[in-house]
Amino acid sequence: MPRKIVVTSALPYANGPIHLGHLVEYLQTDIWVRFQKLCGNQCFYFCADDTHGTPVMISARAAGITPQELINNVHKEHKADFDAFHIEFDNYYSTHSPENRYFSELIFNRLNAAGSIVRRDVEQAYCESCKMSLPDRFIRGTCPKCHAEHQYGDSCEACGTTYRPSELINPYCATCRSTPVLKTSEHYFFRLGDYERQLKDMIAAGYTQASVANKLDEWFNAGLKDWDISRDGPYFGFNIPGEENKFFYVWLDAPIGYMASAKNYCDSHGLDFERLWPLSSEQAGDGYELYHFIGKDIMYFHALFWPAMLIGSGIKVANKLFVHGFLTVNGEKMSKSRGTFIKASTYIKHLDPEYLRYYYASKLSDTIDDIDLKTEDFINKINSDLVGKLANLASRSGKMLTKKLDSQLGRLDEGGHELIKILVAAAQKISSDYESLKYASVIRTVTALADQANRYVEQNQPWVTIKTDPEKTRTVLTAVINAVRVLTIYLKAVLPKYAERVEKFMNVENLDFSSLETVLEDHRINDFERLVERIEQEQVNAMIEESKDSQGGKPSATPSAEPLKPECTIEDFAKIDLRIAKVTKAEKVEGADKLLRLFLDVGGMEKTVMAGIATAYKPEDLTGKIVVLLANLKPRQMKFGLSEGMILASGEGGKDIFMLTADSGAKPGQTIH
Ligand code: MSP
Ligand code: ZN
Repeated sequence: MPRKIVVTSALPYANGPIHLGHLVEYLQTDIWVRFQKLCGNQCFYFCADDTHGTPVMISARAAGITPQELINNVHKEHKADFDAFHIEFDNYYSTHSPENRYFSELIFNRLNAAGSIVRRDVEQAYCESCKMSLPDRFIRGTCPKCHAEHQYGDSCEACGTTYRPSELINPYCATCRSTPVLKTSEHYFFRLGDYERQLKDMIAAGYTQASVANKLDEWFNAGLKDWDISRDGPYFGFNIPGEENKFFYVWLDAPIGYMASAKNYCDSHGLDFERLWPLSSEQAGDGYELYHFIGKDIMYFHALFWPAMLIGSGIKVANKLFVHGFLTVNGEKMSKSRGTFIKASTYIKHLDPEYLRYYYASKLSDTIDDIDLKTEDFINKINSDLVGKLANLASRSGKMLTKKLDSQLGRLDEGGHELIKILVAAAQKISSDYESLKYASVIRTVTALADQANRYVEQNQPWVTIKTDPEKTRTVLTAVINAVRVLTIYLKAVLPKYAERVEKFMNVENLDFSSLETVLEDHRINDFERLVERIEQEQVNAMIEESKDSQGGKPSATPSAEPLKPECTIEDFAKIDLRIAKVTKAEKVEGADKLLRLFLDVGGMEKTVMAGIATAYKPEDLTGKIVVLLANLKPRQMKFGLSEGMILASGEGGKDIFMLTADSGAKPGQTIH
C-alpha cells in the first residue's frame, strides 16, 4: 500500500529574499518529498510566505506601499527563487489568507474554551511619534551590562547579554530615534505549561531527533512560561476575535499557515481537508502521516508552542519534526561583507541550481549539526564526482553508442548482469538513507557504485574493442547504460533535471524506484546531449563578488549597522524630490531636546522642518548653511508643530549626527539628480 504523507517546510518571512541558508531547508525537504513520490507514495508538500508582523509593516511603510502590496511582490520573488531551484511545492500559499484567519480563530477559540488563554497587563515600549508599540528589535539603546551603544532591545551584540528592552540605557525608537514611553496594555497569553505532560510524552515517543530532545529537556527544566500571543495595533496581522486593536502575534498564526496552505490545496483539488488533517480526535482521517521540516533556530516554536496549540484544540499533531542545522560558508556565518550572504537569485545568475542540490545532499544528515559550504570543496565535488564520475559514465557510453553503433542497445552478458545486480542491491540501503535524511550517505553510496561502473568500463576497454568487435562492445555499453539508469534513479530526487536529460537520451520515461529492475535491452537510444557542465572557479568568484555589499567587502565599521531595506526600483526613487535648501533660521523646540525647528528657503518656496539634530548642532551655527532637503515628503503634524520635509543627515545619534551640506555655490530650490 502506498503511504499518504503531508510535508511542510518552515514558512519564510515575507520581509526578505531567499538565500542559500534557507535553501538548506527547502532542498532537504524537496529531496525527501521527491524521494517519496519516486517510491510511489502519495506525498503533498505545502508551504507559504510568513507575512505578518512588525518588520513587514515597517518595510512597507518605508517603501511607501501597503503591506498587502509588499507581500504580493515578495510572494512572486520567493516563488521564482524556489522554481529556479526546482523546489516543487504542491501549494505555496500565504499566511495572509482567509483559510489562515479561519483556522487561527478556530484554534484560539478552542484554546480559550479549554481555559488555556489568560489576559494580563504588560508594560511595553511605545513610540509616540511612530504611534506604535515597539517590538524588542525596534528599540535600540545602550547595553546595561557593557555599555555598548546602539544595541537591540533584546540582546547585546557586543557582550551577548540578553535583557528586557526596559533595561536599556537611553532607549530609542529604531525607526525615528525618539525616546519611547512605557505604556500598559492588556495582552493575551497561552498557558503553555498546561501541556507539559503531553509534550513530554510526545517527545518521549520520538517526535524529534535525540539531540533536539536534549535541548528540549533544558527548556523543560527551566520551566514552561505563559506565551504572549497578542500585539497591539497598528500591526499587520489578524484581529483577535472581539478585539478592535489587538492582533495575533505573528508566531501564533505562522504555523497555522501549514494548515491553511493544505486547506487551500484540498479545496481546489476536490480533497476533503479534514480527512488529510483531522480537526478533532473523533475524526479518523485517511491515515496521512504529517512531517514538519525546520531549522534549529525555531525549535521552541515547533516542538513546544505549536504542538501544544494543536493538542489543546484537539487537532492532529505532526508525526515527526525534522530539524536541521545552519549553513555556514567557508566555516563562518554568512556575511554580506565577505560576499557569502548569497541570495538565491544571485546564485542562479552564475551557477546551475543542481550543483547546489547535489552539494547540499552530499553534506546533509539527520543531525542538527551546521553544514558548511566550502567553495573549494563545492567545486571539487561537482567537477570530480558529478561530472567526472557520474555524468562521464553516461557520456562515454552514450556517445559511442550513437556514433558508432546505430544508437542500438544489445543484451547483457554475465558480466553486465553482475554489475547491474550489484547496483540494484544497494536500493534498500539508499531508500532507508533517504527516508532517514542521511543524504550524505546516499551520495557516498552512489559515487562508490559509479566508481565500480567506471572500473567495469576500464576493464572492458570499449574504446579498444570498438575497432575489432562491435558486438562485444555493444554488450558492454548496454551494461554501462543500464548502470547509468540505476544510478540516475538513485539520484533523481536530488537531480531532477539531470535525470530528465538522462531519460531523454535513453529514450525512457519516468524513471522511478519501481523501474529499478527493468533492464533496458534491444532498445534504441536518442542522441547524447551533455548532462552537466564543469564549474569554473571564475563563476563562483563572480557570484561572491556580486554578493558583497556596497562597502566593497570591508567589514562594516559598526556591527550594528542597519541592514539594507528591500530593494527599491528607479521608479520608486523617481518619486523622491531632493532639493537644495538654505537655512534662514534655526531654533530650539520647547519640550523636545532632540529637535530643532529649521526655516528653509527652497528657492522662493519656504518650508519648516523639525529635525532631530539638536544633540549635535547649535541653532545659531546653522543660519546660512546649504543643506539637502527631501522636499516632497508628506507634511506631518507633530506634537510640536507641522514638519514639511526632512533634511538629510547620517550618523549614530548623540554628538554623531552629520548633516549633508552642499557647496555654497548650489542654489536654493535646485533639484538634486
Ligand atoms: N517565518 C519563520 C518560520 C515560521 S514557520 C511557521 C522563519 N522564517 S525564516 O525565513 O527566518 O526561516 C525559514 C527557515 O529557513 C527556517 O526553518 C530557518 O531555520 C531556515 N533558515 C534560515 N536561515 C538559515 C541558515 N542560514 N541555515 C539553515 N537554515 C536556515 O523562521
Ligand atoms: Zn518611532
